[in-house]
Amino acid sequence: MSNTIAVVGLSWGDEGKGKFVDYFAQKADVVVRYNGGNNAGHTIQANGVKYKFKLMPSGAPLEKEGVIANGCVVDPKVLLEEIENLKKLNKNVELKLSSTAHVIFPFHRILDELEEKTKGEYAAGTTKRGIGPTYSDKAARWGLRIYDIINPKILRPKLEKLYKIKKDLISIYDPNVDLDLEAIYEEYKSYGEQLKPYVIDTAYYLNKAIDSGKKILFEAAQGSLLDVDHGFYPYGTSSNANALGISSGTGIPPKKINKIIGIVKAYTSRVGKGRFPTELFNDTAKKIREQGHEYGTVTGRPRRVGWLDLFNIKYGIMINGVDKVIITLLDALEDINPIKICVNYELDGKILESWPIQSEIIEYCKPIYKSFEGWKEKTREEWTNIALKGYDALPETMKIYIQAIREELQLNIACVSIGPDRKETIVIEDCNF
Ligand code: GDP
Ligand code: IMO
Ligand code: MG
Repeated sequence: MSNTIAVVGLSWGDEGKGKFVDYFAQKADVVVRYNGGNNAGHTIQANGVKYKFKLMPSGAPLEKEGVIANGCVVDPKVLLEEIENLKKLNKNVELKLSSTAHVIFPFHRILDELEEKTKGEYAAGTTKRGIGPTYSDKAARWGLRIYDIINPKILRPKLEKLYKIKKDLISIYDPNVDLDLEAIYEEYKSYGEQLKPYVIDTAYYLNKAIDSGKKILFEAAQGSLLDVDHGFYPYGTSSNANALGISSGTGIPPKKINKIIGIVKAYTSRVGKGRFPTELFNDTAKKIREQGHEYGTVTGRPRRVGWLDLFNIKYGIMINGVDKVIITLLDALEDINPIKICVNYELDGKILESWPIQSEIIEYCKPIYKSFEGWKEKTREEWTNIALKGYDALPETMKIYIQAIREELQLNIACVSIGPDRKETIVIEDCNF
């Protein structure tokens, strides 16, 4: 028996995973990031403080033990900054960092930018944090891992080799890029020294923790549609953002993963490029963007927005094996009328049976919508008071919208969220964690 739960995003990221990792973290012993790197931006708002994490697991505000597992890629500078920021807030930092997580170097960030330019229409509009090139090097088996940077004698020869390969590659794209091996070596040696106290074999550690009865919470980065295998390829990220990534990204066997909670935003948002069937370009889009503060946590880019697409979310529910869903940002749809939900796609006059995974096909699909009456605008204080009163206090039209999502997905709803703060959460069904 184990007591484990995962929080995954069912769309293009930014569904509000951070808020609900914080919610489940109240009961967890350990919070584990298993994929991605500082392309993620997870926000938690509690007791008047806003936290934005790129790498630190979102249990940090509650001082829960955090694990950055092997499936992640780590920019050491970013991680050290996050540790420092938490310490400044007088937070006790309980962190375990996998010795086998791969390390992001400056040449990865440079390549991310150069490769994107070369890809033209196939570019994903990445966060330019070096995520893709670092996962590429992992697969090519010449990437450096955390263990390498905490051991200067291993770091030097491996870095020299990788540096040469990357410098040659970069010069094909741009001969004027300046890269200094000595500077990179000194910088990363120093990061290694600072991170060493946190580094362990996290797979062994987590399996032992589960076996000893500890409660483990997995925190996905990105969302199902950005997953490298089951998402909108090639417009996604480079890791398995869905629950299938948990086992490979942590070393925990699938049979020890008990429950998957899928986060659904009440509408859709998307940073970066690629097809987006329910995208809106009108004043409604502008209004939702402002009301939902849809600007990227990592890059500050305005997010593209559109109607909720339950057809692709259903596919994500299948792939992730979602047990229950949580609906977020319902308040951000205030004063929008009507509100639409996409329930299927039409292609060449036919209704589709399943979401077509090929982005080339999706381009030609027409969303089929159901329309719903909206709800009135409210002040933040009014939304907070409604949350404190509970589900019955929600606007009737919002309850109809929530129940329609439930029926379409054929899944129970664990919570709904009507504000960014920890207290603006309405629990509908306990998740037994
Ligand atoms: P994540 O990447 O999935 O963790 O999501 P982000 O933190 O990048 O983006 C979600 C944003 O919505 C953050 O600014 C949250 O504070 C905010 N948020 C989460 N839930 C709600 C909600 O129910 N209502 C409102 N208005 N904001 C929310
Ligand atoms: P969280 O965890 C939203 C998007 C980028 C780009 C594509 C590839 O906060 O939900 P990458 O830098 O990963 O190579 O970019 O994926 N992307 C995200 N979009 N939320 C995220 O993370 C994202 N992480 C990556 O915009 O389209
Ligand atoms: Mg985010």
